[in-house]
Amino acid sequence: MTFYVTTPIYYANSLPHLGHLYTMIVADTVARSKRQKGIETYFLTGTDEHGINIERAAQKAGRTPQEQADYVVSYYKKMTAEFALDTAHGGYDVFMRTTAPFHYEGVSELWRRVATSKTPKGNDAIYKGHYEGWFCAACAAYKTEDEYQKPKTEGAPPTCLIHDTQLDRISEDSYFFRLSDYDEALLSVYEGQPDFVRPESRRNEVMSFVRGGLQDLSVSRLKTSVSWGVPVPDDPDHTMYVWFDALTNYITAIGFGNEERQKAVGFERFWPALHLVGKDILRFHAVYWPAFLLAAGIKLPRAIVAHGMWLDPNGRKMSKTLGNTVELDVLEKYFPIDSIRYFSLREMVFGQDGRFGYEGLIDRTNSDLASGLGNLSSRTLTMIGRYCDGLIPARQISEDKLLLAKRSGIDTDETTVAGFLESARDQYLQHFESLAFSRALEVAWSVVARLDKVISDAKPWDLAKDENQKQTLNAVLYRAAEALRWLSVLLYPVMPTSTSEIWKQLGLSGSPGTFNPTELKWGGLEEGKSIGEVKPIFPRIDKNKTMSEINNGAAPVAHATEADAVQGSEPKAETQPTPPMQHATEADAVGVTSFIEIDDFAKVDLRVGQVLSAERIPKADKLLLLKIDLGEEQPRQVLAGIAQYYEPETLVGRKVVVVANLKPRKLRGFESQGMVVAASYGEEGRPVIATFTEEVPNGARLK
Ligand code: MSP
Repeated sequence: MTFYVTTPIYYANSLPHLGHLYTMIVADTVARSKRQKGIETYFLTGTDEHGINIERAAQKAGRTPQEQADYVVSYYKKMTAEFALDTAHGGYDVFMRTTAPFHYEGVSELWRRVATSKTPKGNDAIYKGHYEGWFCAACAAYKTEDEYQKPKTEGAPPTCLIHDTQLDRISEDSYFFRLSDYDEALLSVYEGQPDFVRPESRRNEVMSFVRGGLQDLSVSRLKTSVSWGVPVPDDPDHTMYVWFDALTNYITAIGFGNEERQKAVGFERFWPALHLVGKDILRFHAVYWPAFLLAAGIKLPRAIVAHGMWLDPNGRKMSKTLGNTVELDVLEKYFPIDSIRYFSLREMVFGQDGRFGYEGLIDRTNSDLASGLGNLSSRTLTMIGRYCDGLIPARQISEDKLLLAKRSGIDTDETTVAGFLESARDQYLQHFESLAFSRALEVAWSVVARLDKVISDAKPWDLAKDENQKQTLNAVLYRAAEALRWLSVLLYPVMPTSTSEIWKQLGLSGSPGTFNPTELKWGGLEEGKSIGEVKPIFPRIDKNKTMSEINNGAAPVAHATEADAVQGSEPKAETQPTPPMQHATEADAVGVTSFIEIDDFAKVDLRVGQVLSAERIPKADKLLLLKIDLGEEQPRQVLAGIAQYYEPETLVGRKVVVVANLKPRKLRGFESQGMVVAASYGEEGRPVIATFTEEVPNGARLK
């Protein structure tokens, strides 16, 4: 048995944010839960790199479209590494890029198949015509009258209801896909397979859209209007519509239309897929995509599941202008990955919109994780350490001690708790299977609450004072420890790191990630075995301190280069350096949605400096320690994450640009009193130090 799960592929015009991280977390969770059951699983994510929007973002940023795509991809790779969603951390299997040559081959093959096919009503599926209408570059979608806002001033173009940006007028020859002939075929798919579009409310929306009548879809643009894309086979003056190209990635990735991927992965082995998408792109996935596949005679996806949008804690859409976005840098700095994963899955009722705020995240981390699961785990294991010499205690209470045990308030029949766990497990897995993560987690936390109660009713600390109650004490602690084993297995897909840690602390070998939850049996925890070292799993987050740091903008953005470099020898070795001066380039990439005032820029004290000395730092393979003359009394000591790209001696004497008013920060025991500015490019964010070609004195200010 195999399983294939996909996220949407993300536009390469702007940088990743919480919305993008979220679908990846969901897909990663689904993939892990399948793998855990021994199902061979393939998990796809990637980037959608063609089209006018990317062309424009590139132009604005002074890059070629390919450079633009590479630039954005480097941020996605960085995000997936930092949030442990990449292959190295057991996450995605492929990061698809629509600029990959094998993808061109596969898309061309799909086009040819569709172009030579007949619709269910006997017409050519693709025909040439003339398109006249409005197009939203950001949605990459044609807009009908009810989908745009009429202009306030006469003669101005209408605006997109979603993006609030002006639409492009299009009047040109185009290939059309005869979508209007597919309404009945699609409706019979939705009716015959009620699970095809989920949740139910979205399925109803899709069905009423199709029942309302489908218009033929323009599936190409003249190359003179949009050149950044896949050429239409045998008619290179036309470029394929970016959604035709993008959707096809789901099959080209696994081998459709190209030998190389077919050998590496295998189309028949993994297709059909479960597509996870945001509700905003449901129509493309639930209407256009199945229609293309029907035309090409290819099996339809297993299902299309639409999730809601993340809003801010007040229910507003997140936007840079409102300043209510959740920043990935902040998440990364202040929150453990598992608490972000837990919060995302717990807080958004799958299919509905959810609210995401730092305060809520801190509250849930502290209540559900630190005080809930974390506390259950540490108190249980600490007591096993203290009262049972660190060995998993015996679970049975002998006949002669039963009455005594009952008196202490415990249910002497262990099958009660075992039965409770079995039924919780079944409910949990059922919710999980239908992607109702929030409900599944509620069930898991009912187990935490139940075991907490078992402990507080039995009061092991009192039982420990009475030698006659030794068996009762053992039984109570065994139950808690065994429940923790079950919870580790059940919760592994949601919180892989912390559950693996609990597993280890229980003294178990292997990983909960390879334990099939349907095979959990009461009593699996072996008596007499040593537990591991007990450490806190979910440290409490100091809400006031963290919130004030976040609100004061003490996020690590400007220091990211050095910080990442320090992490080089730690577990997050794959982390790529964040390009220095991230904000400036970020604004370019997103098509400048967040301008700053000149006063904002003036806050950054940029100075000319000269490198006096440069040396490597032991055990920090990415870091150089520089002494820089900024025309001040004393040279500055600055750490720079460039050791992999610059030999220290080549830097001595060189003029550089330094951020002189950056708050000093300690790294690897050395204080860094500023930051060297560098460009960053390519997938690994290769740094290139900014310098001058003319004479300039040390300490001169850049304005
Ligand atoms: N490139 C297309 C998808 C092509 S798939 C063949 C695209 N890209 S996107 O980058 O704009 O969006 C990708 C996904 O991010 C969508 O599923 C969208 O719903 C999701 N999100 C964007 N903002 C979001 C939130 N605020 N909350 C949750 N998800 C959101 O569309």
